[in-house]
Amino acid sequence: MTIERMNELVELLKEANYNYHVLDKPTITDQEYDHYFRELILIEEHHPKWRRDDSPTLRVGGEIIDSFDKIRHEIPMLSLGNVFNESEIIAFHEKVKKVVPHPKYVCELKIDGLSVSLLYKKGKLVRGATRGDGSVGEDITHNVKTIRSIPLVLNEKVDIEVRGEIYMSKSSFQKLNKMCEQNHKEKFANPRNAAAGSVRQLDSSVAAKRNLDCFIYHLPNPLDYNIYYHSDALTYMKKLGFTTNDSHNQTIADINDLLAYISTYTKKRDELPYEIDGIVIKVDSISDQNRLGFTARTPKWATAYKFPAMEVLTKLSAIQFTVGRTGKITPNAILDPVFLMGSRIARATLHNEDYVKGKEIKIGDIVSIRKAGDVIPEVVEVKKERRTGKEIDFEMIRDCPICHIKLVRKEKEAAYYCMNSKCPAKKIEALIHYASRNAMNIEGFGEHIVEDFYNMGYLKDYPDFYRLYEHKEELMELEGFGEKSITNLLDAIEKSKKNSLERLLFGLGIRQVGQKNAKILATHFKHLDFLMDATYETLVSIKDVGEIMAQNIVRYFENSEHLKMIQTLKKLGLNMEYLGKVNIDESFANKTFVLTGTLESITREEAKQQIESKGGKTASSVSKKTDVVIVGKDPGSKYQKAVALSIPIWDEELFIRKIR
Ligand code: IVH
Repeated sequence: MTIERMNELVELLKEANYNYHVLDKPTITDQEYDHYFRELILIEEHHPKWRRDDSPTLRVGGEIIDSFDKIRHEIPMLSLGNVFNESEIIAFHEKVKKVVPHPKYVCELKIDGLSVSLLYKKGKLVRGATRGDGSVGEDITHNVKTIRSIPLVLNEKVDIEVRGEIYMSKSSFQKLNKMCEQNHKEKFANPRNAAAGSVRQLDSSVAAKRNLDCFIYHLPNPLDYNIYYHSDALTYMKKLGFTTNDSHNQTIADINDLLAYISTYTKKRDELPYEIDGIVIKVDSISDQNRLGFTARTPKWATAYKFPAMEVLTKLSAIQFTVGRTGKITPNAILDPVFLMGSRIARATLHNEDYVKGKEIKIGDIVSIRKAGDVIPEVVEVKKERRTGKEIDFEMIRDCPICHIKLVRKEKEAAYYCMNSKCPAKKIEALIHYASRNAMNIEGFGEHIVEDFYNMGYLKDYPDFYRLYEHKEELMELEGFGEKSITNLLDAIEKSKKNSLERLLFGLGIRQVGQKNAKILATHFKHLDFLMDATYETLVSIKDVGEIMAQNIVRYFENSEHLKMIQTLKKLGLNMEYLGKVNIDESFANKTFVLTGTLESITREEAKQQIESKGGKTASSVSKKTDVVIVGKDPGSKYQKAVALSIPIWDEELFIRKIR
């Protein structure tokens, strides 16, 4: 236990911290870190006087203050003016140009957290303060010290004040909310609230556990350091040991590049590990900044482009309950429809009884709605000040809304469940299975989409997949979807109609009919009609079909609901045939086809698929090896070549007759 060893440990842990939190490149494992950390604590406990100001053990918190001291900012902490669209950005640029004809800007991400001022004396962190009203903030030094991307000691012994944003990453936010949920505590509405709530704790061990982070983006008095450009200030602050957002910051001189930067990050926004609410545009040159000056509250040399709002207000007109595939009951808010970031929202999840009661939601309330990453948006908070007194209290249901059996609240869970195994709600599970890869392989229909579509009433039974196109317009408006993704889903559904029988058989979810058995049955019966007509005796006589499976199959096809559903699938154009080797058609088998001209009743892709499914091949050019040329409207030179080579020619009508 020597002072040398302590110094060695401090350096080692500091470097590990920097690599992990600032550079995002860990160099030692968590176990190694903990090991050295414990050793350092031990030395410091025995020799408290040795403890260094930059010891990483200071990060764990534990300091408890009685109240927040007020701090006066020597240079006011200004906020930024906002612009909301392209023409306002251009107007800002034009105004700047009147004073600075050829401005250069630094574009930065607008981190959605809370701003902080950090004061260092001789390179040591002496104070961290919130913005407050811009002139007077609060001392949050004890909490700031727990944030690992904020250096306790700088690489130079300077007196300096820097400013930046404390924030919580999306992943830390999710972890925190999961913990809140497990402990039946109210969740935080968003990472910004969570970060703000964490730095406003009197006990710093709370902030220490919250995994906060900080980007530094402003040096209030750069000229004191002989710095003449904001971009140089960023480089300098990074050199001192701060985390600047240098991988995303960009110096830009052309207005079109500036607009492109904004559009890039508007798209990239969701991929970032932290939330941003806009883009900050700052004039780079400090002398240009000074020439432009300030208005009362904001600099004229910078502005913030704000992304369209993520939250809107609307009326919660009713609460409806849905049953999930596990039997879980979810209350859903029925909303007066509103538009949010380009889509129409009429429902939002309320998760469970505790969520509704925790947020004190009543029917008739004005609520704020946020789009989370999921398809279904959520209610963030109630605007209690807008209550009229006519709102109705929420009451949790006691019976399943589908099968009316008494609900059960599982121990240690906030949710109620319908335990009835025959409850139609179990349908969701069946729908997920039907669309899955080994069954009908409807690409894009993951569990969540099926469940969400079910909950929204678009999917109740298998035939509904094939009727989804009727709701195309509405679906395109859903959170997380656009024209392209819905078109892709509908195309995948259409494609699945042509699946060979074994996929449908497996997808139907007949007990005991797994993937392998579905194939056995399909190859044997070749068409669903023959399987449906098969008696128990016929079934058991087939090799590999046991008594229980035979019973299940017979029972399945005795059920009139099932028969009706299969008839509907047929009407909707589903293939019911086994398309394996048995489907070879004499007219097509082992023949090479060439298509030319436009076919009117079928797409070229479908025509090719049909030919291939019947044992034929397609080629792109006519040669002596070509067996048939299919000629549509306005054929090309391939037609003449076919005539010259005396190759049989089919017109569209003949082709269609052959494939039907
Ligand atoms: S610069 C005088 N840069 O946005 C310039 N602010 O709406 C001061 N913010 O109060 C601010 N990211 O809390 C700046 N890269 C960034 C920022 C940023 C987030 C916050 C900050 C500020 C607010 C203004």
